[in-house]
Amino acid sequence: MLDFHSHLLPGIDDGSRNIEMSVGMLNMWKEQGVSIVCATPHFYADSMSPSRFLDRRERSYFSLIEALKNSTYPRIYKGAEVHYFRGMSSSEDIGRLCLQSTKLLLVEMPFHEWSDYMIREISELRSMGFIPVAAHIERYMSGQPGKKIDALLDTGIMIQCNAEFFLSLRTRRKALSMLADRKIDFLGSDAHNLSSRMPNLGDAYKIIRKKLGDDSLLHIRKNEKMLTDAWQLTRSTEEAL
Ligand SMILES: [Fe+2]
Repeated sequence: MLDFHSHLLPGIDDGSRNIEMSVGMLNMWKEQGVSIVCATPHFYADSMSPSRFLDRRERSYFSLIEALKNSTYPRIYKGAEVHYFRGMSSSEDIGRLCLQSTKLLLVEMPFHEWSDYMIREISELRSMGFIPVAAHIERYMSGQPGKKIDALLDTGIMIQCNAEFFLSLRTRRKALSMLADRKIDFLGSDAHNLSSRMPNLGDAYKIIRKKLGDDSLLHIRKNEKMLTDAWQLTRSTEEAL
């Protein structure tokens, strides 16, 4: 299992507060059988430059890796949850915020109504070769007019949903139906801590496997391969140097 969306790294956003909490979260993922966790701290362009963000992310990542030495934990891929900002399609740094060394860019859309300009910028990113992935799309479905959701999907954006979408009895039927129709491309926990927003991807997988069977996850696995292949390629390149 791969968790596409989490706030695992310590002390960088409103997720894990410190190394102990991050280690606790990694233990929960490990117990659930999750082998890869994408660390996607919030990036807000109006509060920090990409360079400063990436510098802070590196320091947070290495402090955690140092603490994990000699232990077995899920592998961590680095990325960001980029809050939509005006001009993101013309930002020279946008590629540096993609996940691992792929073109996958996790985008958090605003919770107010999306303008046509926003949709055009997402479309522009797609035509530039990036693969925007809309974070937790289920959280927008009741707040946006249907035509805005359709317009966003028409840009070719990929879709990430949170485990909670499957765990809540209120939304489970909709979540399973979207997954069966291959309308979900990635799954994540969006975990922030050990209690109120804890790693819970394993529980969602149990429900999916029970209700739809393992084959329903083939589409997700195919997409996740973009990340595992990129990681493998980076590793082979590093080893060759
Ligand atoms: Fe998030």
